[in-house]
Parts: sequence; C-alpha cells; structure tokens
Amino acid sequence: MNTVQPQPPQQSQHLMSVTARPADVFVRGEGAWLWDQAGRRYLDWLQGWAVNALGHCPAVITQALQSQSTQLLTPSPALYNLPSLVLAERLCALSGFDQVFFGSTGAEANEGAIKLARKWGRTGGRAAFEIITFDNAFHGRNLATMAASGKAGWDALFPPNMPGFAKATLNDLDSVHRVLSDRTVAIMLEPVQGEAGVRPATQAFLQALRQLCDERGLLLIFDEVQTGCGRLGELFGFQYYGVKPDILTLGKGLGGGVPMSAVLAQQHCSVFEHGDQGGTYAGNPLMCAVSLAVLQELSQPDFLSQVRERGQQLQEGLLEPAQRYGLGEVRGAGLLWALELGCDNAAQVVQSCREQGLLVNAARPHCLRFMPRLNSTEQEIQAGLSILAGVMTPQRSRVTRGN
Ligand SMILES: Cc1ncc(COP(=O)(O)O)c(C=O)c1O
Repeated sequence: MNTVQPQPPQQSQHLMSVTARPADVFVRGEGAWLWDQAGRRYLDWLQGWAVNALGHCPAVITQALQSQSTQLLTPSPALYNLPSLVLAERLCALSGFDQVFFGSTGAEANEGAIKLARKWGRTGGRAAFEIITFDNAFHGRNLATMAASGKAGWDALFPPNMPGFAKATLNDLDSVHRVLSDRTVAIMLEPVQGEAGVRPATQAFLQALRQLCDERGLLLIFDEVQTGCGRLGELFGFQYYGVKPDILTLGKGLGGGVPMSAVLAQQHCSVFEHGDQGGTYAGNPLMCAVSLAVLQELSQPDFLSQVRERGQQLQEGLLEPAQRYGLGEVRGAGLLWALELGCDNAAQVVQSCREQGLLVNAARPHCLRFMPRLNSTEQEIQAGLSILAGVMTPQRSRVTRGN
C-alpha cells in the first residue's frame, strides 16, 4: 500500500509576519554548516544570532539534552534541582559574581536587571529608579527593554512607553552627566553595541562610568547577552575590558542554542525578596544541563585563545577588501565583527553571499556583521572570507559604475 507523505509547507500564511525572511527553509545544522530543504549547504556566520557558541548541534549539547531529558525536565521553579544548583555555583565561580537568577531570553534577563536596580534604588529610604541607557542600544523586545533600548523609531511603536530611562550617547561622558539626577539608580549598557553594528565602548569610557557609579552610589549594569560567554575572546566582555559591573546579564551563548539567560549580581545589590522575581522555566534542569556543558567547553585551556586567533584571522581578512575597495571601518573583537560598506548595499551583499553559500547579517543598511561559531576552524574562516571577497568584487564595481 502506498502511503502519501504530506509535503511540509514551504512558507506559512499562519506564522505572523514579523520579519522579512528568505524563501529557503532550513532543516539541518551541523557545526559551522546549515542545510536547507533543497539540500543546499551554507557556511553559517549568523549561528542563531551569536547563539550557537559551539556551532549547530554539538555533541556535548545533544548528549546533555539526552541525558538530562531522561532524568528530569521541569520539577517546578519552586523546587530546587541539581543542574541549576551546580550551574549557579559554576557561573559565580567563573565570573566572580555572588548570585544568579536564571531566565530563558536576553530580554527576560535584562528586565530582571532593571527590576533588581529599581528595587535596590528604594533601599535605605531612597527613591531612585531611573536608569541611564544609550542611543542605539538593544536590550530586547519586551516593553521594559524596548524602553531601555535606543533604537531609532522604537519609541513610537507601542505607546505609552515605560518611563524610567534616560538616554545618553555611547563614549560621551558629558552626555551621561547631562541626564544624571537624584532619580538615577543605574547606568546600563552593552560593552559592545551588537545590533547597532558592533560599536564598542572604549575602555576609558567604561572605566569612567565605573568611577562615576562608585562616586555617586549608582549601579553599573552590563548587558552581555551578545558579548558574554566567549564572544569577545574572553569568557565575559567585562574581563576583556577589565571593568567589573555590579550586575551582569547573559543569554544567547550561555545556552549555545537553547533558551537560557541569567542575571548575575554582586552581593551588595542582590536584593530580590520572595515574590519579586520568578518564572515557570526559571532554572529548569534541561536548559541548565546544557549551559553546564557549554561552559565546560568554553573553559577548556585553549578555547579562548583559539577564539582570539580566529578573530584576528577574520579581522585581517576583512581589512583586505576594506582597504582594496576603500570601504569603511572594520570593528570588533573575538568573533564578533562588523565591516562598514560605505554605502547602503548591505542587504544586496547579504543576498549575494547567501546565493554563494554564506550566511551573514546586515546589522545596518551600510554594515555587515559576522558571528561565526566560537570553535571555528582556520579553514572555515578562510572559506567565508573567500566567498565574501568573491561577492564584494562585482558589488563594488556596480557601486563605482553607479547602478
Ligand atoms: C545585547 C542584547 N541584549 C538583549 C538581547 C535580547 O535577547 P533575546 O532576543 O534573547 O530576548 C539581544 C538580542 O539580540 C542583545 O543582542
């Protein structure tokens, strides 16, 4: 008897259309590579938006999932579970923070950090609640983190906006002083603004913010959802900069491909009381087991030096077309890089790269972003750079011809 297999849909009218997607449907990932339904293979330098620290479906993650899924999935957030206890201890030991709250997404971690800062601002009879955040920042897509973000146009999307955020300009200390007031409780920023096109804070700026927070009794919060967990070539971005915040948020790479995030706090500002914070999946053992496996890999002796080496290879490879075609800046660290194109053709370059089997991101209309897996090989980086070079050549001649 013939059984007719239903054809999977190519596209769905039933998925809310919240972003433009290419028509290809992706069905399988392994390491640096993704395959679409037609069997085409792509070198993936999106890696789930800097999520898959170890690439697609690494054995350490699938083993952790298999093993933990036979033991315990979700007991209840009101009961202790072993993986979350071990992960809390490990993460605090690695980062030097005192306490942690686990969530599922970066936005949830940042919302937790905002709540923690507001709670802390009310201790000792004070009434400080305002958080200074930055133009072009990206902290997530729930209402609090959208208000904290500085993406152009976002303030007009879902009014009324959540109050309690004042905006300053990255690397401009005067702009921070201008919005500082008695209401200020914290300064919150990404050490490198990822979604803005990989725009790094300077070390001097972060040191000045640290000093300002110490002098004024404010909290310094680093959103390391994108820069944390090895992405900048150190385990945490604050270690790369040598400036320690009071509160640190992590996401993306912490789960290496599964939904996992964390708010870490130093003892003096870890002020949540029962009922202040929680979540059905907070610290569920399945995700915590995966995070433990990811951290185990990131902590291997040569892992981070390899990230730095591959990062240098990528940087040098990007500087070559940048110089040859007179493009703009190459910015970044570790394995988070951007290339300024000098004109608004990033979407075309992304499409041409995809046609040639390389997935990259247009962080801005004029800027490409690269987020390969942290355990990339020399050959993979070279392969991606070769595709990019091949794509840039006709792109640039078209631009110089003016069509
Ligand atoms: C710096 C930063 N913070 C927060 C977020 C939001 O994370 P999520 O999409 O997991 O909520 C992102 C996502 O890109 C991010 O880059």
